[in-house]
Amino acid sequence: MGTTAKTQFQKPLLAVLKGETQTPPPIWLMRQAGRYLPEFRAVRKEIGGFLDLCYNPKKACEVTLQPIERYGFDAAILFSDILVVPHGLGQHVEFRTGEGPVLEALKDAEDLAKLDLSQLHEKMAPVYAAVSEIRTALAQTAPKTALIGFAGAPWTLACYMVEGKGSKDYARTKEWAYGQTDLFQKLVDLLVEAIAAYLVRQIDAGAEAVQIFDSWAGVLPEDALKRWSLEPITAIAEKVKAERPETPIIAFPRGAGQLYESFAKIPHIDALGLDTTVPLDWAVEVLQPHVALQGNLDPIRMVVGGAEMDQAIDYILEKTAKGRFIFNLGHGCVPNTPPENVARLVDRIRNFSF
Ligand code: CP3
Repeated sequence: MGTTAKTQFQKPLLAVLKGETQTPPPIWLMRQAGRYLPEFRAVRKEIGGFLDLCYNPKKACEVTLQPIERYGFDAAILFSDILVVPHGLGQHVEFRTGEGPVLEALKDAEDLAKLDLSQLHEKMAPVYAAVSEIRTALAQTAPKTALIGFAGAPWTLACYMVEGKGSKDYARTKEWAYGQTDLFQKLVDLLVEAIAAYLVRQIDAGAEAVQIFDSWAGVLPEDALKRWSLEPITAIAEKVKAERPETPIIAFPRGAGQLYESFAKIPHIDALGLDTTVPLDWAVEVLQPHVALQGNLDPIRMVVGGAEMDQAIDYILEKTAKGRFIFNLGHGCVPNTPPENVARLVDRIRNFSF
């Protein structure tokens, strides 16, 4: 087994984000805190509403740490949701059991004018408090685990804000983007400003890296993807780095295909989250010279487990782990993931012969 070279960083995740290769690579999983864990379901039941959990710093801290205690991941990701930002801008947001998020859909310029940036930080105060609490707890219990803050990207947030819920194709949002371009640009500009400020505050509260989730980038054709995903993410990264130059930024433009290359060339992006479809030889050749790679195990392989999962893990490690790499999924953990498969995954990666 390979041993990690001397490093100036105590935390493997930060070492990779700052330019080093670690063997074995650091591991964390998108949606690592969530319904597949019985201890999460217990807290969720006790609290009631999902947003109540997001805005309860003590409980948000507790569920953030659950997967760290169980599996010893190299990163903790703040327990929250991307939709707290629309909520903080004054839009009505609720999470209905079995239905997912429901928002009061934006219909026109008048609705857009009601969004109010001035209250964002006040409304997000419990989130910042959760970040501080998690950072303090990690220092005591898991000093090698880094804390990741996050936000949704403007395009993905706009999708939920305009549709009012999840959708297969986000056709209404595209109609706005293509048909009322100036108005849609206003919404995206507002989100760029809100998200950048929100991430800076998370960093000030204790986040050591931040991830920007653009889960629906892949529904856009090339020109629109550049305008509504690549450009706003570039703008956010620039703003955050102008204020907090030392904090690494991870982008997850899910479904961006060959345009992942353009994301890799954004000067202020330190790592790219690869979705399940990205070919790894291509990613290593074209993307890894510019950024650290993160991903891309299909979460359903972790549901199936056994040799099927093992082979897929080995394939990813053989292809990517010679360079800067962070093991993760290509999308979030699903609720029917057996917790023992997660333990097996961590064990396999940490004991792999590099
Ligand atoms: O990764 C983590 O462990 C941190 C927590 C986290 C959640 N959501 C918790 C959550 C993160 C990083 C997110 C991001 C998020 N939220 C994204 C981007 C990543 C992705 O998956 O593409 C998106 C698109 C959302 C919006 C969202 N939140 C949806 C569509 C849903 C409903 C679907 C579902 O899984 O239930 C949520 C709810 C949500 N966010 C839950 C959790 C744990 C489940 C709510 C519950 O416990 O009832």
